[in-house]
Amino acid sequence: MLFKIFSVAALAASAFGQKLMDLNATLASNNQTSALSGLLAAYPDLVRGLESARNVTLLAPSNNAIETLLNSSMGKLLSSDPGLTQAVLTYHVLKGTYEASAITNMSTFIPTMLTNTTYTNVTGGQVVEAITISGNVTFFSGLNMNASVVQPDVNFTGGVIHVIDNVLTLPVNDSATAAAANLTSLVGALGASKLVDTVDSLRDVTIFAPNNTAFQDIGSALANLSTNDLATILEYHVVKGPVGYSSKLKNGMKLDTVGGKSLTIHIENGTVFVNSAKVVTPDVLVSNGVVHVIDNVLNPNNTSAAPSSSATAGSPGFSGASSVSSAPFTSGVASPTTTVAGGASSAAASASSKSSALGAPMKTGAVGAAALFGAGAVMVNL
Ligand SMILES: *[C@@H]1O[C@H](CO)[C@@H](O)[C@H](O)[C@H]1NC(C)=O
Ligand SMILES: *[C@@H]1O[C@H](CO)[C@@H](O)[C@H](O)[C@H]1NC(C)=O
Ligand SMILES: *[C@@H]1O[C@H](CO)[C@@H](O)[C@H](O)[C@H]1NC(C)=O
Ligand SMILES: *[C@@H]1O[C@H](CO)[C@@H](O)[C@H](O)[C@H]1NC(C)=O
Ligand SMILES: *[C@@H]1O[C@H](CO)[C@@H](O)[C@H](O)[C@H]1NC(C)=O
Ligand SMILES: *[C@@H]1O[C@H](CO)[C@@H](O)[C@H](O)[C@H]1NC(C)=O
Ligand SMILES: *[C@@H]1O[C@H](CO)[C@@H](O)[C@H](O)[C@H]1NC(C)=O
Ligand SMILES: *[C@@H]1O[C@H](CO)[C@@H](O)[C@H](O)[C@H]1NC(C)=O
Ligand SMILES: *[C@@H]1O[C@H](CO)[C@@H](O)[C@H](O)[C@H]1NC(C)=O
Ligand SMILES: *[C@@H]1O[C@H](CO)[C@@H](O)[C@H](O)[C@H]1NC(C)=O
Ligand SMILES: *[C@@H]1O[C@H](CO)[C@@H](O)[C@H](O)[C@H]1NC(C)=O
Ligand SMILES: *[C@@H]1O[C@H](CO)[C@@H](O)[C@H](O)[C@H]1NC(C)=O
Repeated sequence: MLFKIFSVAALAASAFGQKLMDLNATLASNNQTSALSGLLAAYPDLVRGLESARNVTLLAPSNNAIETLLNSSMGKLLSSDPGLTQAVLTYHVLKGTYEASAITNMSTFIPTMLTNTTYTNVTGGQVVEAITISGNVTFFSGLNMNASVVQPDVNFTGGVIHVIDNVLTLPVNDSATAAAANLTSLVGALGASKLVDTVDSLRDVTIFAPNNTAFQDIGSALANLSTNDLATILEYHVVKGPVGYSSKLKNGMKLDTVGGKSLTIHIENGTVFVNSAKVVTPDVLVSNGVVHVIDNVLNPNNTSAAPSSSATAGSPGFSGASSVSSAPFTSGVASPTTTVAGGASSAAASASSKSSALGAPMKTGAVGAAALFGAGAVMVNL
């Protein structure tokens, strides 16, 4: 079978009068990937592994992307951590050959060669989100960071290379992602119920993450909860695998939570709801699955809550609750101090077709370092 595939590939190449080069030679000869080629030279074992890979897509950061990375705090971290560098590089290798034309305006979630459990607990490999936005082939990675293809479809012996304008960000764990996104009520609630380590170490999860307004809107119902009741509520937001990326969510689908009770997906006129809460930012990739930010807290004692057929916003699942003056559970929780500047608004504009509800995906490789170093250093507008 393999022989047959290679024969066909060889025939196709010779029909066009070209000989495909191996990965190393292809990167070295392309004037946009010489920096990546230089970086890889320090990892001969990794290069040999990639050389023998077949049917893959390499997202190759451009010279400018590599230079920006090496100049950043993330670059300093990488230079002292070869294991992390290898993880970042393998996250750029997608399983399967995807020519640029195969990436449509519907999100797909493509597994990568990153499977090391030090960095991911997504079965089958951590994923990237691929989507074409206003003609730009775009890949979303951790913390909703994105990269665009600047040179598509460079063929090599193992598949195809797309040169991209940013280094992908490794998805970080749930609590660091929530902290970076200023979901401080959720961070505080997880801490108060001692669930941080439990949630972060699960495999293949889908987390529906209420934003601060969602907690604040039902503050009276949360005021005097026992730790047990709070934990029960939070566990109702965490769904067991397989990972529920937006492309997998269908109207009427039931999802089993780690607490045991199930949630129901409702899709009304293209808007996705979970019970009666609306998904306001879908598909934030995390080290163990995916986070969808929602506009209401889900109630395990009200599993039949649903949106009306004309709903454009979510509605509370806690009847009779009233709002409070400040975001619950945020006392002592550090708010992110730095807002990532630059790129955000322009990227948000171009990414608007990803989802009308999407806040501001950003282009920067620097954010990942802050999140890896510890939560709260940096702000991501989800
Ligand atoms: C890749 O190419 C560089 C020069 O372009 C060379 O120094 C290196 O040995 C090659 N690595 C492998 C594994 O072939
Ligand atoms: C890179 O090579 C292409 C042709 O392969 C050429 O058109 C382009 O100007 C080169 N860019 C740089 C920065 O040298
Ligand atoms: C990287 O840093 C060097 C020296 O500080 C600077 O000259 C260069 O413009 C920077 N490159 C990028 C892409 O930020
Ligand atoms: C996974 O990553 C860790 C930390 O970088 C490293 O020590 C280990 O060798 C890696 N495991 C594999 C199978 O590559
Ligand atoms: C290439 O990989 C994709 C994704 O894993 C798979 O669906 C496809 O069958 C593979 N193609 C070949 C020729 O092996
Ligand atoms: C994956 O799960 C294992 C076992 O629970 C844990 O030790 C590891 O830290 C997790 N990896 C990540 C990236 O969260
Ligand atoms: C790359 O390969 C694909 C299919 O394998 C082929 O359609 C395309 O023409 C090739 N591109 C170049 C520039 O050779
Ligand atoms: C984070 O959320 C808190 C509380 O909701 C708010 O006061 C603060 O302004 C937010 N921080 C940023 C950087 O938006
Ligand atoms: C939570 O989401 C709702 C709906 O998009 C929005 O109106 C509200 O401002 C968000 N709250 C925060 C703190 O981001
Ligand atoms: C569905 O949404 C579109 C635009 O998002 C709107 O124009 C239309 O009125 C909506 N239809 C219903 C039945 O709500
Ligand atoms: C849910 O219902 C149970 C049983 O009636 C009760 O013990 C628990 O406090 C309720 N939880 C919440 C959050 O209202
Ligand atoms: C496509 O990406 C390029 C390079 O990142 C950028 O300059 C351009 O504005 C993008 N176009 C759209 C329509 O988003």
